[in-house]
Amino acid sequence: MTQEEHGPRRAAMAALALVVGILGALVPVRAAGPQRPSPAPSAESDGQYGNPSDLDDYIAEMTSPERDAWQKPDQVVAALGLKKGETACDIGSGPGYFTLRLARAVGFGGFVYAVDVEARMLQALRERLERARVRNVAPVLAVSDDPLLPPGVCDVVLVVDTYHHFPDRAGYLKRLRRSLKPKGRIVNIDYQRRPTPIGPPLDHRVARATFLTEAKGAGLSLVAEPTFLPYQYFLILAAK
Ligand SMILES: C[S@@+](CC[C@H](N)C(=O)[O-])C[C@H]1O[C@@H](n2cnc3c(N)ncnc32)[C@H](O)[C@@H]1O
Repeated sequence: MTQEEHGPRRAAMAALALVVGILGALVPVRAAGPQRPSPAPSAESDGQYGNPSDLDDYIAEMTSPERDAWQKPDQVVAALGLKKGETACDIGSGPGYFTLRLARAVGFGGFVYAVDVEARMLQALRERLERARVRNVAPVLAVSDDPLLPPGVCDVVLVVDTYHHFPDRAGYLKRLRRSLKPKGRIVNIDYQRRPTPIGPPLDHRVARATFLTEAKGAGLSLVAEPTFLPYQYFLILAAK
């Protein structure tokens, strides 16, 4: 290549570098790791139902294997003590981070209701179920104040990072209680109301004590409390 050919080429490269630089400055930088937490980013409620408006990103975060380090999903599901053939009800299932594990825990003879109000979450769940060839899960498109579950079907109701989204929390707990089998349990896992490296803003969180007061009002009492999760309380309740 001659000197004359180098000139225009260099100019073109410089222009390209300038465009890339300008675009880079315009695109918002997404903070990595704990600063933009998964699965509850700080801008959590700029979309519908307490979700961020960028649902694709949110779904990717919620199902990311990086979440396993602190969410300990297999340990959580083991602590639920589900038996083969039982029915689990995953309330606010999102794209099914817990749902698929619950489906495995109850086996082919068992069943999972995966309840969410956001149709796109359930669409993402259906795609994951299809890829994993899981057939013992029914996605349920619910309404904000009602999971729309039949009465008396759940051995375990699991609510993870969702309780603080319910518009009428006490009323919702009563509906969940009606969906329980006689010896069923309701499990609530949600962020402690103290600063944690991940999780929604403090004013979106429901303190453990507040939840327990609301649960008592709905006729539920605490029967166990595993303590291995670093940022969330893990409360197992039964009907009184
Ligand atoms: C923080 S995500 C948690 C998802 C899932 N439990 C997990 O741990 O991966 C909260 C989910 O609750 C759903 N949600 C919000 N309000 C709800 C309501 N009133 N009833 C049922 N689901 C709700 C949202 O659409 C979202 O999928």
